[in-house]
Amino acid sequence: MSQPAIRVHELCFQWSNEAPVLRSCSLEVPKGEFWMLLGSNGSGKSTLLRTLTGLLQPQSGQVEIAPPIGFVFQNPDHQLVMPTVGADVAFGLVEEKLSYPQVRERVEDALAAVNLLHLQRRPIYALSGGQKQRIAIAGAIARHCEVLLLDEPTALLDPDSQMDLVQQVQQLLKRRGITALWVTHRLEELDYCDGAFLLEQGRVVEQGDPIHLKQRLMQQLEQEVDQEDC
Ligand SMILES: Nc1ncnc2c1ncn2[C@@H]1O[C@H](COP(=O)(O)OP(=O)(O)O)[C@@H](O)[C@H]1O
Ligand SMILES: [Mg+2]
Repeated sequence: MSQPAIRVHELCFQWSNEAPVLRSCSLEVPKGEFWMLLGSNGSGKSTLLRTLTGLLQPQSGQVEIAPPIGFVFQNPDHQLVMPTVGADVAFGLVEEKLSYPQVRERVEDALAAVNLLHLQRRPIYALSGGQKQRIAIAGAIARHCEVLLLDEPTALLDPDSQMDLVQQVQQLLKRRGITALWVTHRLEELDYCDGAFLLEQGRVVEQGDPIHLKQRLMQQLEQEVDQEDC
């Protein structure tokens, strides 16, 4: 296997005086692949993503991930800061000190990549939830990120927009050779990824074939429902 694009090795993280959240957590995502991260509420998924971006410092362990990293939040209203679509995508490029034509080219290319070039002048407030998530993704594309981290990007979407987003992201990643780690608790999304990790109490307890993991988790859910019915 070629060098992984994301490598996490025995990561430990704990908020002061609390039980550990990440406990020797290790995972690798191969370059150019789309992997998902599942786990129950509180299992440490968001904490893991934040240590990957450098927003949180782990107590021990290693993270290897090629910058610049794109990060997409659960709630796009926490991420989109400018009044219009084009301005928001351009805002992420400020640090790169590009010329005006370069910025314009990057913004137009990124919006075309998420099929929203026609909304370039649209105010952010006039977008649907799914469109907002695609704008957040366009921001990462414009910065030429090779790795995308997405923390439950479909959590606030209706089922149709949810499936549209996951399909579009899958196609975009493949076209551009981007690597992604996508957090979800919706098992139907597993149909679109190359592999999946199951996190339990801050540790990867299962990984690999997403369809196999989906079947196993669905059986587990059915058993839980049966037990409740008894
Ligand atoms: N800012 C914080 N301060 C203290 N504890 C936190 C903080 N954020 C999350 N936690 C705790 O860390 C654990 C893991 O949370 P989180 O990573 O958000 O889980 P998940 O995303 O899988 O639902 C939970 O027990 C949560 O209560
Ligand atoms: Mg979370």
